[in-house]
Amino acid sequence: MLDRINGLFEEAKLAIAKATTSESLYEVKVRYLGKQGSFSGILKEMGKLTPDDRKTIGKRANEVRDELESLYLSKESGLKRSELNSRLEKERLDITLPGEKRMVGSDHLVVRVTRELCEIFGRIGFSVRLGPHIEKDFFNFDALNIGPDHASRDMQDTFYIDDGVERKTGEFSPWILRTHTSPVQIRSMMTEKPPLRIMSPGGVYRSDSDVSHSPHFHQVEGFVVDENVSMADLKGTLGFFAREFFGSEVKVRLRPSFFPFVEPGAEFDASCPLCKQKGCSMCKGSGWIEIGGSGMIHPNVFKSAGIEYPKYNGFAFGMGIERIAIVKYGVTHIGAFTENDTRFLEQFRS
Ligand code: PHE
Repeated sequence: MLDRINGLFEEAKLAIAKATTSESLYEVKVRYLGKQGSFSGILKEMGKLTPDDRKTIGKRANEVRDELESLYLSKESGLKRSELNSRLEKERLDITLPGEKRMVGSDHLVVRVTRELCEIFGRIGFSVRLGPHIEKDFFNFDALNIGPDHASRDMQDTFYIDDGVERKTGEFSPWILRTHTSPVQIRSMMTEKPPLRIMSPGGVYRSDSDVSHSPHFHQVEGFVVDENVSMADLKGTLGFFAREFFGSEVKVRLRPSFFPFVEPGAEFDASCPLCKQKGCSMCKGSGWIEIGGSGMIHPNVFKSAGIEYPKYNGFAFGMGIERIAIVKYGVTHIGAFTENDTRFLEQFRS
C-alpha cells in the first residue's frame, strides 16, 4: 500500500507540474485529492490494515496529502498570477495614444450672434422680449402705420396663412408670417408702461429668395420709449452697439430714409470693420456697410399702441442678424447659414 501511495504521489506531483491553466490544475486536485479521488480511495482501505501498518501508512498518507496540497496551492497562485498578467497584457491601454475625436455640437452662428446682441444691449439696460412668428397683419402692418395699400402687403412679399375662410379676390387672411420684428414694438407698448428699453431678436419671413435673400432670416429690433428721447440718443446707442460688436474703431452714420413707422427715418451704416475703410469687397470700396433701419417712432404708432404722445416719444431700429454676422465673420454667402455644412458650423465654437 505504501508503494501505491508513493506511486500516486509521484503521479500527482507530475500532474500538478504539468498543469498549464488553473482550470486543468483544479481537475488534477479533484482527481487526486477530492472526495472521490485516488487518495480518498486508498484511505478508505486503511481500515483493513493492522494498527501498526495503519500508523506508518496513515502518517505517510497524511504527509503526501499535505505535500500535494501545498504544491497545489503554490502552483495555483503561480498560474493565477500569470493568467492575470496575460489578461492585463491583452487589455493593455496606451494612455499616450491620442484620444478618439468625439463630435460635439456647437451653437449656430445666428444663435451665437443673437446671444452677443442680447449681452451688448443688456449692458445699456435693454431687456429682451420675444414675439410670435405667426402674426396678425394688424401688428405687422396696420399698427405700424403701414396702410392697406402698402407694397409690402403684396403676396409677392408676404407669406399669408390660409385660415380656411373663403374670401373675395384681393382679400387676404389676417394671419401672416411676420415680415419683420417691428410688431414686437406694438405688443410691448400695449402691455408695458414706459419707460421702455427693449430688444427683440427672432426669425422673420419674406417671400423672396435669391443669392442674397433667404425667405427665412433673423432680425433684431430695438426701441426706447421715454420722455425727451432724441435722435442723438439713437445715434449714441447705435454707435455703442457698433463698437462693441464690430470693434472699437467702428463708427456709424445715419442716412435719411423712409419707413412708415418712423419719422424721421434713417438707414444706418457702420464704417467697414474689415478694411478699416481702405476699401474692400465687403464694403464694395465705399468704406461703409449698410446695417439696418432706424428712426424716431411715428406718432401714429404711439396712437395705435395707446402710448401718450408727445409726453412720451422714442426711437426704434432694426437690423438683420445674418447680415451683421456676414460682416463680422466674413461669411461669403447667405446659404452658409442653412446648408448645415459642419465645416462652416464648426468654426463658431464658443
Ligand atoms: N422693420 C424694418 C425692416 O424690416 C427695420 C426698421 C426697424 C426700421 C425699426 C426702422 C425702425 O426693414
